[in-house]
Amino acid sequence: MNVKNIRQDFPILKRKVNGKRLVYLDSTATSQKPKQVIEAITDFYETYNANVHRGIHKLSEEATEHYESSRKKIAAFISARPDEIVFTRNATESINLVANSLDWKKGDEIVTTIMEHHSNIVPWLELKDQGMKVKFVDINDDGTLKMEQFGKLITKNTKLVAVTGCSNVLGTINPLAEISKIAHDNKSLLLIDAAQSAAHTKLDVAAINADFVAFSGHKMLAPTGIGALFAKKSLLEKMKPFMKGGDMIKEVTTESATWNDVPYKFEAGTPNVAGAIGFGAAIDYINRIGIDSIRQHEKELIGYALKLAEKEKKMTFYGTKHIEERAGILTFNFENIHGHDVATILDQEGIAIRSGHLCAQPLMSRLSINSACRASFYLYTTEEEIDILFDAFKNVRKVFRID
Ligand SMILES: Cc1ncc(COP(=O)(O)O)c(C=O)c1O
Repeated sequence: MNVKNIRQDFPILKRKVNGKRLVYLDSTATSQKPKQVIEAITDFYETYNANVHRGIHKLSEEATEHYESSRKKIAAFISARPDEIVFTRNATESINLVANSLDWKKGDEIVTTIMEHHSNIVPWLELKDQGMKVKFVDINDDGTLKMEQFGKLITKNTKLVAVTGCSNVLGTINPLAEISKIAHDNKSLLLIDAAQSAAHTKLDVAAINADFVAFSGHKMLAPTGIGALFAKKSLLEKMKPFMKGGDMIKEVTTESATWNDVPYKFEAGTPNVAGAIGFGAAIDYINRIGIDSIRQHEKELIGYALKLAEKEKKMTFYGTKHIEERAGILTFNFENIHGHDVATILDQEGIAIRSGHLCAQPLMSRLSINSACRASFYLYTTEEEIDILFDAFKNVRKVFRID
């Protein structure tokens, strides 16, 4: 993988921030976009902008063709069928779709984990009002899941096991095949929140036997406002639509309506056509580099960062040190200093990191903290940028007088 060449594809990386070169270490929040994606979106607006699935005219046909071609690319990327891919706005909407569309009954249980992002917790908590129960698998001290708890928490009432492919805080890559087996042995469905994993590790929904997978385009080189839900076709066919309106119907009278085939049944209203086309271009880009090469690069980066971390004093670094189970996410705290203060100092050096509760308050409570700093890496990140980060820690130490 030639990172120098890859960086040439990302115009924003040439930017200066506060007079310094931009060191973008916030790809977990959203990735930067290569010019191939930006150009695909521009091309849509400049040459074939039209609504999809409606017009008979040429532009509409072209727009529909590109929109559906993106669906095929996304499906192939995760070894699914195109009619098992529903376009959504993001992973959050995909998870909400499942929460709103499954045929829940009172007493059903959802088993999730304490390391989840709010998007994979709050939609389930909302179901408690209807008599559902939510249970949480805990983590070990190294930030890996207490796998033995799945077997204990899953009961005959467990309708769904909802687990992240990768923690957006700890960087733990979870053993999805193993979790899938436990879930299915108990006749539970498995939902994978792949917001953080889809762009970084190979995901084969058929091999894992996932029932649902939620992910966001913007974390994988695509624009914001476009995401996808994978769901097994047999499940999609049984589920009721979450949103209703144009394009998702077969026939409407003044009395009632019948639903379109899947996946269109779940795509009410004009979709984000430009976003979907950008998503397709992003998948092309990732495929051209190769997801395994991306993973290898990130493994090297996190290994490098963890080595540098060993030398730091009065700091806590969270998560496992086993890079086989670890994504390119480095979450840390300086003793007694709020994450926002650290992020502000780093920003002055042109370094973009995330700070705060990282949309994972239950995990923050579990770790007995209320905020943390997170530096995250992607295919364009270099070891030199990690050096710049660790070098900038000296400024933090100077300002807060930490020896
Ligand atoms: C693990 C995880 N799940 C879900 C989400 C939600 O993604 P989005 O805001 O794109 O819906 C995020 C976002 O950071 C995440 O890290």
